[in-house]
Amino acid sequence: MYNAKAYSASSASAPLASTTIPRRDLTDRDVQIEILFCGVCHSDLHMVRNEWSAAMQTMYPIVPGHEIVGRVTHVGSAVTKYKSGDLAAVGCLVDADRTCAHCNAGLEQFCPNATLTYSSPDKHLGGVTYGGYSDSIVVDEHFVLRVPATLDLAGAAPLLCAGITTYSPMRHWHVTAGKKVGVVGLGGLGHMGVKFAHAFGAHVVVFTTSPSKKEDALRLGADDVVISRNANEMQQHAGSFDFILDTVAADHDINAYLNLLRVDGNLTTVGAPPQPLPVSAFSLIMGRRSFSGSNIGGIAETQEMLDFCGAHNITSDVEVIPIQDVNDAYERLLRSDVKYRFSIDMASLKSEQPRESAATRAAVG
Ligand SMILES: NC(=O)c1ccc[n+]([C@@H]2O[C@H](COP(=O)([O-])OP(=O)(O)OC[C@H]3O[C@@H](n4cnc5c(N)ncnc54)[C@H](OP(=O)(O)O)[C@@H]3O)[C@@H](O)[C@H]2O)c1
Ligand SMILES: [Zn+2]
Ligand SMILES: [Zn+2]
Repeated sequence: MYNAKAYSASSASAPLASTTIPRRDLTDRDVQIEILFCGVCHSDLHMVRNEWSAAMQTMYPIVPGHEIVGRVTHVGSAVTKYKSGDLAAVGCLVDADRTCAHCNAGLEQFCPNATLTYSSPDKHLGGVTYGGYSDSIVVDEHFVLRVPATLDLAGAAPLLCAGITTYSPMRHWHVTAGKKVGVVGLGGLGHMGVKFAHAFGAHVVVFTTSPSKKEDALRLGADDVVISRNANEMQQHAGSFDFILDTVAADHDINAYLNLLRVDGNLTTVGAPPQPLPVSAFSLIMGRRSFSGSNIGGIAETQEMLDFCGAHNITSDVEVIPIQDVNDAYERLLRSDVKYRFSIDMASLKSEQPRESAATRAAVG
């Protein structure tokens, strides 16, 4: 075991602060990665503040971060896919049983024994897993991804969650040329959804509550932009969409979007507001419409997505920040004020002199 530098929160009301955390010594199958960039996902904020307590309790201290890119520093003796010096990435999953039907189907995200990158029980050290707001991480090679060398690394980091979370449902629901596709919310996930839907050849309409994002939406690949607070603009699209991806992180009227679907259209939510979203039965039955959800993506599909991004030169539009600004970044996320993902430059962690190591104490004792 060794100590790594990190930022952690000790409770739902505490800010993120400098600390040290334990990382395991490498097993035969492990890859150690020096983290260069880590994206800031709205799920990090939900989890740090224990907003999803009805579904899962956050375990403190929490070190968030599941959009990780970096460079391999060491590998275990049985590792075959990576060597020291390679670029590598880690997303939301760091382990699964690899024997259940979901794992066998490449859907590790639905494995009942999956280990999340942070705030999951740590099978190796006890305590909980610690994520990417850190200078290094140790992960089984099966859960490590290859980063196309041509991609900008700060912009590639968010592909590991925002990228796969929007790519996977669009593939599942056959977003292709000729389809009319809506993306609700132009934040981290939403702007990636726009890029993928455009790359797949669909006619893309962005729904935003922020009129100031209109120009950006068009630049990112949208064919049309609807200000969702304007009922007249919404009504012009009634009954016309094949597929809508909802990425909104807060309470909103889901029926307003279900009513925009054509017969047999689907609305998939990837957004995870803490409160339930009331659905009117009539929004669904009048048109045999369906409402579903999607959770990140499996390892093979995440690699497929990264390779697709390499081939099409797709990265996230990022604001690179030092880790010392992460608490401010969370406040800006709450104001829908990000263009369009924060990516933490982990070099900024080197200067930190952690004052306390609550995370270390919690994990080892
Ligand atoms: N299912 C999964 O696997 C998965 C994976 C990652 C994240 N998530 C969840 O997806 C959600 C979005 O994450 P993110 O990182 O993309 O967040 P984000 O960057 O904060 O973007 C969310 C966007 O939603 C819109 N929005 C915010 N508040 C709203 C409101 N009250 N009414 C209507 N629209 C609102 C805003 O876009 P406009 O300004 O354009 O309106 C905002 O930019 C979060 O709940 C996160 O936890 C789920
Ligand atoms: Zn995420
Ligand atoms: Zn499994």
